[in-house]
Amino acid sequence: MNTILLLHGPNLNLLGTREPHVYGSTTLVDINAKVITMGKERGVEVVPFQSNHEGALIDKLHEARSWAAGVVFNPGAYTHTSIALRDAITSTGLPVVEVHLSNIHAREEFRHKSMLAPVCVGQISGFGWRSYLLGLEAILGVIEVKS
Ligand code: DQA
Repeated sequence: MNTILLLHGPNLNLLGTREPHVYGSTTLVDINAKVITMGKERGVEVVPFQSNHEGALIDKLHEARSWAAGVVFNPGAYTHTSIALRDAITSTGLPVVEVHLSNIHAREEFRHKSMLAPVCVGQISGFGWRSYLLGLEAILGVIEVKS
């Protein structure tokens, strides 16, 4: 059975109470449950991990080389700043789909640029918690093509 890493960056542990007008009122626990359920229906195991620390996210990507077929990743604000995460993605060679709850292109200008998108398979942005399900759908397609 293929395993997918569901990776969440900084401040996403506060989903549910964090700026609900922007990110919705669904908690991270609920989002993880939805993605895990969809994974089960589609025959893949989904392993969630959240950290507020750039290095911990990098370590998880490195570790996932040995067990993950692909990654669904919401890097939070690191999207816009992290060359180190970008390098981690290219270093591992894992296919990554970048997801965002909000439409980053319709927000402040500093959110329009993603350091990671050019090294990801693609980006899904603006569909609230459903962005994650769309992200899983996307990575499943990538894995299918690869295998
Ligand atoms: C986010 C968008 C980022 O700009 C922001 O820093 C986040 C959440 C999103 O899911 O919409 O933390 O990644």
